[in-house]
Amino acid sequence: MTSTPPGPRAPSQPPLRLVRPASGREDQRAPQHVLLVVTGSVAAYKAAPLARALAKAGAEVRVVLTRSAVEFVGPATFSGLSGRPVESDMFGSHAGGELHVALAAWADAILVAPATADFLARLATGRADDLAAATLLCATCPVLVAPAMHPTMWSHPATQRSVATLQSDGRCRFVGPVDGEVASGDSGVGRMAEPEQILAELLPLVTPQDLAGLHVVVSAGPTVEDLDPVRFVSNRSSGKMGFALAERAARRGARVTLIAGPVDLPTPPSVLRVDVRSALSMQSALHEALGPELRSADVLIMAAAVGDYRADAEHPTKLKSHAPVLKLALHKNPDILADIGRARTGRRPLLIGFAVETDSDARVIELARAKLVAKRCDAIVANHARDSLGQDDNRVTVITNETTEPLPRADKGWVADRILSFVAARLGDKGK
Ligand code: CTP
Repeated sequence: MTSTPPGPRAPSQPPLRLVRPASGREDQRAPQHVLLVVTGSVAAYKAAPLARALAKAGAEVRVVLTRSAVEFVGPATFSGLSGRPVESDMFGSHAGGELHVALAAWADAILVAPATADFLARLATGRADDLAAATLLCATCPVLVAPAMHPTMWSHPATQRSVATLQSDGRCRFVGPVDGEVASGDSGVGRMAEPEQILAELLPLVTPQDLAGLHVVVSAGPTVEDLDPVRFVSNRSSGKMGFALAERAARRGARVTLIAGPVDLPTPPSVLRVDVRSALSMQSALHEALGPELRSADVLIMAAAVGDYRADAEHPTKLKSHAPVLKLALHKNPDILADIGRARTGRRPLLIGFAVETDSDARVIELARAKLVAKRCDAIVANHARDSLGQDDNRVTVITNETTEPLPRADKGWVADRILSFVAARLGDKGK
């Protein structure tokens, strides 16, 4: 009788990077599991902010430290940041079974940061001589590796051989190393990529790509209407809500164009940003992004607080302050969203407006509903100025012709994801 050798273990996690059907319920799904493997490099201290940022982005994080990583960073730091015990030992805290198998099955993605030359060599040769290496040998999920080492070690043919082997195996991808100063004070390619760059590569791996293939245009921030070379009329919008929408949409696979009024916020990864100043310049940038007959975008989210009025003309020199009363004649700006709503012929682009109001909750919803109809939007996100302007969090109600959905007060990133889940569901329902 012949026996068949056991085949490769079936992956016990669903494969990632799938375009999952848009259910609109993505935000209620279990948090994604990220296993952070830290190996023994001075750059190990940079893994702590990474663990924190991952947890902040909603991932559940577990950490494996190699024995040499423990020489650089303390397990207590990582257990504090991840809220879970840190593993180093093959026969560690796991009650029964094989810890490396359990960790590999648990992970939706594995991040090795920093990855030393030694660890790359062990990975490339399939070693399983400690918990970190054995877990990676078991892993079927996406693996992102952030090498960190002295430039001479990185450029050594042995290390380059390891990298080439790992790349041709197709089981992991690399971020960095980058050119810069390393721990010894020398410079060259070997420095670990910055945590922001690593996160920008990792988060899409653990985020359902339900907006892949879509062009999402977002407007954000205030507009500014200049009166003279030193004065202007504007509003208190910080741009945080629009930037969060752009960032999350890109993370979910969309091609994103962000039309930003004057704000001091970093451009989210993979987002095309167009800076504008006045309402008229925002209008022309939006028309450029939406293309002829609005055919170039699938979704427009108007999170910008567009100034309703502008000065007659910008005074070329500073207005003098002799008069006891200054009367300003302001002219109405175009209502950009309403004009687009009127010009739209089919279902594209899906139009999401915002309404910032200052009344009671009931009246906020009533006023927002009137804007939904007047501007011919698919949805209006209603919020109170006190809850939203300049804040890191927001309390909004998403209003459509059929529904009124109040969301709890939450971080603007979370609110953005809920709005985008609505977008994904709408486009899913009505044909992508
Ligand atoms: N909007 C726009 N063009 C304008 C004014 C507003 O496109 N000139 C858009 C905003 O980006 C937002 C929505 O219209 O998506 C509602 O903006 P809001 O400031 O709440 O209301 P207004 O339309 O300006 O009305 P009011 O100031 O009377 O409340």
